[in-house]
Amino acid sequence: MLEVEGIHTYYGLSHILFDVSLRVEAGEVVCLLGRNGAGKTTTLKSVMGVTPPKRGRIRFNGEEIVGRPPHVLAQMGMGYVPDDRRIFPDLTVRENLEIAAKDPAGHRQWDRDRVYALFPALREKEPVKGGHLSGGEQKMLAIARALMGNPELLLLDEPMEGLAPLLVRALEEQVLKLKAISLTVLLAEQNVHSALRLSDRCYVIDDGHIRFQGSVLDLKENEEVRRRYLLV
Ligand SMILES: Nc1ncnc2c1ncn2[C@@H]1O[C@H](COP(=O)(O)OP(=O)(O)OP(=O)(O)O)[C@@H](O)[C@H]1O
Ligand SMILES: [Mg+2]
Repeated sequence: MLEVEGIHTYYGLSHILFDVSLRVEAGEVVCLLGRNGAGKTTTLKSVMGVTPPKRGRIRFNGEEIVGRPPHVLAQMGMGYVPDDRRIFPDLTVRENLEIAAKDPAGHRQWDRDRVYALFPALREKEPVKGGHLSGGEQKMLAIARALMGNPELLLLDEPMEGLAPLLVRALEEQVLKLKAISLTVLLAEQNVHSALRLSDRCYVIDDGHIRFQGSVLDLKENEEVRRRYLLV
């Protein structure tokens, strides 16, 4: 579904991603693991057209997408949940979801009820303003908003970050439910344990370079990679 081939991405003159390649097949949950500053967010932003790569190719369902703006990619079926959870603090949960809804073009259909079935906590908070939700609830709302756009591929940037262990578990369960309905997910994570629980395959990025790729089992068994690039 997603093929990233040898991309180089810059912020101004700073060269950040070097020849990054990865692929995500339909129905897979693929994890991009790396420490602080490794290049995870930049990779997702490159895919989503926020910081387009200067070199390399990105294909989504076989179509070349480098140079297309984020809103066009969203229309093509990409959902993006940035690390800074983009919700509207002055709108209620219900309003946040309603304005995120998109006319589905033959894709799997998400509506409020379906989103609430996945995140029951949000149903209870329906009339509450986004800004009054807890950190965990805001993360759920950010993911819920992305789902309302009926994505085929969901890009999730560190959804577990800053959450208490109990909430991490809850969010993991929800991601596993998305996996069970075969939504395709590219997940950027620092939390190796979460990543290993959720993913089919992993890539490890460090200093803008992909240093490892393999199955979850391969990574579990590869202590050297984990120690060198992930500090676990
Ligand atoms: N807007 C920016 N302008 C210049 N440099 C940036 C910008 N954003 C990130 N960088 C640099 O790009 C590199 C990769 O950052 P990136 O945010 O992709 O890492 P990350 O793996 O997502 O890290 P984190 O775990 O902190 O989210 C870092 O060296 C960072 O300092
Ligand atoms: Mg990041």
